[in-house]
Amino acid sequence: MFDALRRPVCDLLGCSIPILAAGMGGVSRHELVAAVSGAGGFAFLGMIREPVDLIHSEVKALRGRGIDRFGVNLVPEATDPVLLEQQISACLDLEVPAIELFWDVSEALIGRLHRAGTIVVCQVGNGTEAQAAERAGAHILIAQGVEAGGHVRSRQRLQDLLPELVAKSRLPVLAAGGLVDGADLASILALGAQGGVFGTAFVATEEAFAHPYHKRRLIESTAIDTVLTDMFHNNRPSGTIVRVLANSVTNGERGNAFTGSRVVIGHEGERPIYLFSTESPLVSMTGEFEAMALYAGEGVGRISRIVSAAELVQNIAAHAAALLSVDKIVPTTPVESASPACFSHHVDDCYMGFLSRSELLVALNELLETERSHALVTLASASEAPDHLHGLILLIHQDAARWCGVLTNAILSRGGTASNKTDAVFGQAMLKRDLAHRLEFLNHRRVGSIEQIIALLPTVRDDDLHMRLSMMRDSHERNGKLVAAALAGFGRS
Ligand SMILES: Cc1cc2nc3c(=O)[nH]c(=O)nc-3n(C[C@H](O)[C@H](O)[C@H](O)COP(=O)(O)O)c2cc1C
Repeated sequence: MFDALRRPVCDLLGCSIPILAAGMGGVSRHELVAAVSGAGGFAFLGMIREPVDLIHSEVKALRGRGIDRFGVNLVPEATDPVLLEQQISACLDLEVPAIELFWDVSEALIGRLHRAGTIVVCQVGNGTEAQAAERAGAHILIAQGVEAGGHVRSRQRLQDLLPELVAKSRLPVLAAGGLVDGADLASILALGAQGGVFGTAFVATEEAFAHPYHKRRLIESTAIDTVLTDMFHNNRPSGTIVRVLANSVTNGERGNAFTGSRVVIGHEGERPIYLFSTESPLVSMTGEFEAMALYAGEGVGRISRIVSAAELVQNIAAHAAALLSVDKIVPTTPVESASPACFSHHVDDCYMGFLSRSELLVALNELLETERSHALVTLASASEAPDHLHGLILLIHQDAARWCGVLTNAILSRGGTASNKTDAVFGQAMLKRDLAHRLEFLNHRRVGSIEQIIALLPTVRDDDLHMRLSMMRDSHERNGKLVAAALAGFGRS
């Protein structure tokens, strides 16, 4: 099921769908991890600063439910070194399959975990950190864009950071930050990510350990309700930034976060929760939830109800798979026969014009790199488009994302390696500052892609691939006409 979404990272992690629930401190406990894993995804226990007893009991609870593929999230910089060492030893003793690390890249720790046979996943916020993590032995990178909820490492938007890491790294790259639905997943897969890491979206699920107050505030909020702030700073090195829903603290109504005595605003059992602490409201807490850190990513405006984690995984996967599939698209022109000179597929080499497997892989990768450029340029352009062009540009982005998925699957199913690059179209298009010029340029290059597909079609023996490429050609022709019409209305043609 959802074969269109499957990527090599799934085999590494042991899941069937590349949908990951972020390791969220306090929020991601065994109930959430088990539900995501049971639905085919992968999840991390959020164990930042948690005592080893809790790590033991959570891992035991997961294994008791038959879940053996999961990860543990730890944040070394935010943890007392003695406790951190105990946490690492506990994870190694328990043979936790994967450990996710965040914040400063500790090359020594990554190397140690790697040598112990643990899958090391590093969430990073820029290219330098990604390179350090890769050098030290990380197996998987997570590109965290500035749209993310919780602690935010990056200052780059995901659409800029992700392609940069994909282009420069040999590791599988996952994407995080503002992702909530299947369109987001289809989009980041098109940009070369092998999967999506969802945080805020999973806070709003029945199994998350977040307090119902936090969940309710998420479904009531919009993207502009989130702010980046350094005011929730207790427990973390100074200067760390979080994305939260704006509240009385971020509005300055609770005083200066960096001076004055500590004020207790809640409890977890006997333990006090202080104002300006990084802790978010949990089921186990009481107190003034409004003044706590209500972590939320920029995708929050598209979360409208609380669902089970399994339903969320299923919805995201089904939506993304539908966007990446061509099965439901009706071709506008009849599909030509794949083998005009030969009606039998069983007779090898009857038509010498067919490409060999390796030639076909080269051609498909060329199309993929061009398509990725189109997906990326349209994504970057959507935010600067006037209202009447915005929808069209997003539609073309989704189309390009879909074709990236189709081409990637065609390459992977033939045992090839899908290129993670963009071609020259990307750089050339982005140099054009004027949006109309950029769209004109893309349209011009789209004609080039169409010609490439037309030339390729008679050399493709496989009927299914032939049909998909024909549909891709048709959709490019359609989109080209739509853009030309829109630009004509815009005063250009
Ligand atoms: C409630 C919450 C708690 C988080 N806690 C952690 C954490 O303990 N460790 C960590 O590495 N990241 C943490 N994050 C950040 C996530 O790893 C991830 O980058 C982020 O959720 C992705 O953005 P999104 O929330 O828009 O999906 C947290 C995020 C949220 C929303």
